[in-house]
Amino acid sequence: MKVAIGCDHGGIDLKKTVVAVLTELGHAVDDQGCNSTDSVDYPNFARSVSTLVKEGGCECGILICGTGIGMSMAANRIHGIRAALCNEMFSAKMSREHNDANILCLGARVIGPGLAAEIVRTWMTSEFAGGRHQRRIDMF
Ligand code: RB5
Repeated sequence: MKVAIGCDHGGIDLKKTVVAVLTELGHAVDDQGCNSTDSVDYPNFARSVSTLVKEGGCECGILICGTGIGMSMAANRIHGIRAALCNEMFSAKMSREHNDANILCLGARVIGPGLAAEIVRTWMTSEFAGGRHQRRIDMF
């Protein structure tokens, strides 16, 4: 799968961990930045990753900021994006199975790299269940 990834200055260290996990799982990564610890505005990166996912350049995306909150709010403003902020595994699994989330958001100041790696593994290997869940998504 081709996965778009983006972060702000608060998420840059965790992004390295996430890229390593995605690579280990055999996915190609399209890194939309940022690439330094200089302060940046997370909505710009949310928009880049969301646009790639919405337009089909990437099948899904991962966004990382300090809390994951700003990234998820910004990404969900874009029609067709279903961004899920998941800081534990159950939500990661359910966001795929029930909500067909196409972007995973993580809070780098909330969770450590070990938990984040497991969340990414869970999210990337869980599948949408369809059926009644598709009907609900179609109501968005
Ligand atoms: C940046 O300081 C911080 O506000 C950002 O990473 C994020 O947590 C916003 O939701």
